[in-house]
Amino acid sequence: MVEFASISLDVVIRDAMKTIRLIMPSNIQLREQLDDGEVNVYGNATQLHQILLNLFSNACQAMDANGGTLTVITRPLKREALPEGYKEMADTDYVEIVVADTGCGMSREVQAQIFNPFFTTKDIGEGTGLGLSVVKNILINHGGFIRVESELERGSRFCIYLPVTASPASVAAAVQEAAGRDAPRAEILLIDDEERVVKYLKKRLERKGYHVDGYTKPEEALNEIISRPDRWNVVIMDHMMPQYKGTVLAQRIKKLKPSMGMIMITGW
Ligand SMILES: Nc1ncnc2c1ncn2[C@@H]1O[C@H](COP(=O)(O)OP(=O)(O)O)[C@@H](O)[C@H]1O
Ligand SMILES: [Mg+2]
Repeated sequence: MVEFASISLDVVIRDAMKTIRLIMPSNIQLREQLDDGEVNVYGNATQLHQILLNLFSNACQAMDANGGTLTVITRPLKREALPEGYKEMADTDYVEIVVADTGCGMSREVQAQIFNPFFTTKDIGEGTGLGLSVVKNILINHGGFIRVESELERGSRFCIYLPVTASPASVAAAVQEAAGRDAPRAEILLIDDEERVVKYLKKRLERKGYHVDGYTKPEEALNEIISRPDRWNVVIMDHMMPQYKGTVLAQRIKKLKPSMGMIMITGW
């Protein structure tokens, strides 16, 4: 069951930005213009987080070739200020979240299909075509909507609209947030067959204060987990490695230690 509560939008957005910062390639800049008014939305934090990460990762993929800027903007919107065609249905004030990139952009023809399940222009293994259809469904369940503006070679701008709620952020959400703040730091085991990727990610994660042990040989990492199962609580691994498929490796690690957190890096 999906639980809804009044949650602070700022907390969800900052949390999602923290995640994308960790995995973003270094040729992409992240810019934020977050409204400093306290805005709460009635929703599910996990799903809102998922929306943002889907949009962020699409933006990063669109800028894969040449790098660029990912911009995140929020601003409150009075009902009357909603785009034509939407304000007629609205009965409260909204908040607008813009996720903009300076990447490859989309033709009109592509734009018309992006919310269809399984529509993708990416190679096998890089895209499932499900991201935006999930985003759209989650938004519908939240009484929100999404709109896109894009031009080939210029970039894309996804605008999300969510109804705001006057109720204060729920105690449960606040407790969760506090728990997150005080939670023990992740002890990370990093596995990627490319040494330079291991070095790069290790450096970035360590700069954020995490403790990271890196391995380029999945077998070696597995043996380490067997001999020291309590040493790490999170594994970050490459999805595609010559010796191992990430999914196979993940299953073996889960068997060894079911509580291990797992992050798989794919595509870029
Ligand atoms: N920021 C973006 N810039 C350019 N194209 C995009 C962007 N976001 C989505 N798209 C297009 O929409 C398609 C569908 O996106 P999505 O549903 O997330 O699936 P996937 O990313 O798995 O392909 C993508 O394959 C791509 O063609
Ligand atoms: Mg996607």
